[in-house]
Amino acid sequence: MPLVYGALLGDHAEGRVSRVTLYDTDADRLTAVARVLGEQARGVADAPAVVATGDLDEALRGADFVFSAIRVGGLEGRAADERVALGLGVLGQETVGAGGIAYGLRTVPVAVALARRIARLAPDAWVINFTNPAGLVTEAMSRHLGDRVIGICDSPVGLGRRIARVLGADPARARIDYVGLNHLGWVRALRVDGRDELPRLLADPALLGSFEEGRLFGADWLRSLGAIPNEYLHYYYFNREAVRAYQNAERTRGAFLRDQQEGFYARMRDPAAPALATWDRTRAEREATYMAESRDAAGAGEREESDLESGGYEQVALALMRAVARDERTSLILNVRNRGTLSVLDAEAVVEVPCLVDANGAHPVAVDPLPYHAVGLVTAVKAVERAALEAAESGSRSAAVRAFALHPLVDSVTVARDLVEGYLEVHPGLAYLDRP
Ligand code: G6P
Ligand code: MN
Repeated sequence: MPLVYGALLGDHAEGRVSRVTLYDTDADRLTAVARVLGEQARGVADAPAVVATGDLDEALRGADFVFSAIRVGGLEGRAADERVALGLGVLGQETVGAGGIAYGLRTVPVAVALARRIARLAPDAWVINFTNPAGLVTEAMSRHLGDRVIGICDSPVGLGRRIARVLGADPARARIDYVGLNHLGWVRALRVDGRDELPRLLADPALLGSFEEGRLFGADWLRSLGAIPNEYLHYYYFNREAVRAYQNAERTRGAFLRDQQEGFYARMRDPAAPALATWDRTRAEREATYMAESRDAAGAGEREESDLESGGYEQVALALMRAVARDERTSLILNVRNRGTLSVLDAEAVVEVPCLVDANGAHPVAVDPLPYHAVGLVTAVKAVERAALEAAESGSRSAAVRAFALHPLVDSVTVARDLVEGYLEVHPGLAYLDRP
């Protein structure tokens, strides 16, 4: 939220956002974040007004844009997602594999209730979904909000920016051919003035070794694949190593973030604590340790300075809002309904693809067909998401088992059954799965 508010503070153009309403289920968190925003606004004459409320309806009424970033079950829930999966020898990552399914099953019913509420109280609002697993959650909400919900992830922008940088291209002028699902996509070309520069990168081991994904996947694998995958594909292509690294880690990512965020909110209970500085330090630590297990497993080393800066989520969100509100046409990689863009998926499937955005919303642009290796993963994972959505809608436990069992990173139906049992034990939020 402070990142988004920071982007709003930097926008002085006509039609800018003038009022921000914060809503949270937790009063301490609401107060803490409002204080951070208050310090950010100091000395900015035209800073958007900030109102904090614990009343969802009040927050929604009259809103032009609704940002949704929720964490059902909290970070304790995320740590439990990891623990149960790792105990059964499979990946428990927040968005990928068993952990992502468990998190999705907990989150979808809450996201759907929210979507229904928005459809009633703010039917003309545009909804920007940040909540993970972002593709699945956006699709669940789109069943109630249609194309008025748009999912944002910063990983495609970050990847495109890194590739442009190593190629010496201006990221603003480069056209990035990125397609797939959220956290499951590939850059297949980067065109500057119509010319694809990616082959030059793939042919140069030194260039490939000079950025995050190049080090994560290794030059040989990238050249063989002929594309640069989203960093989350490390969990697929190097699954054994990733699971082992997670198992050997002192604390999983979820457990680390749980402790870190607890510490932040505890410090913020002191009214004298410097809110913005404390938040900034916490954010910097979170960024520096992002995907540390994967980088360790790959021997990729530390993250680069330029990757630690903000400029991902909030710039995409601001560009999206301006495009919609002011008809300032722009091109962004977003999570939207497929509408025929990827021929292997139906029209309602939410995909992550380049979109043209204007006052009428986000329109996916035509892309080349996916190669078979990508068709395999994308359709398999979409089948998983559909089973999860069915389970969330009907409360069917067998649909939940199917969601786990169909995932490429869950290697046995028996494991899938054990996962469902294990997750039901630790997550009260899954108690709705009470039908056969
Ligand atoms: C990236 C991913 C997001 C994720 C964020 C924070 O931006 O695209 O989906 O929420 O990192 O990851 P973390 O592990 O710090 O929660
Ligand atoms: Mn993401």
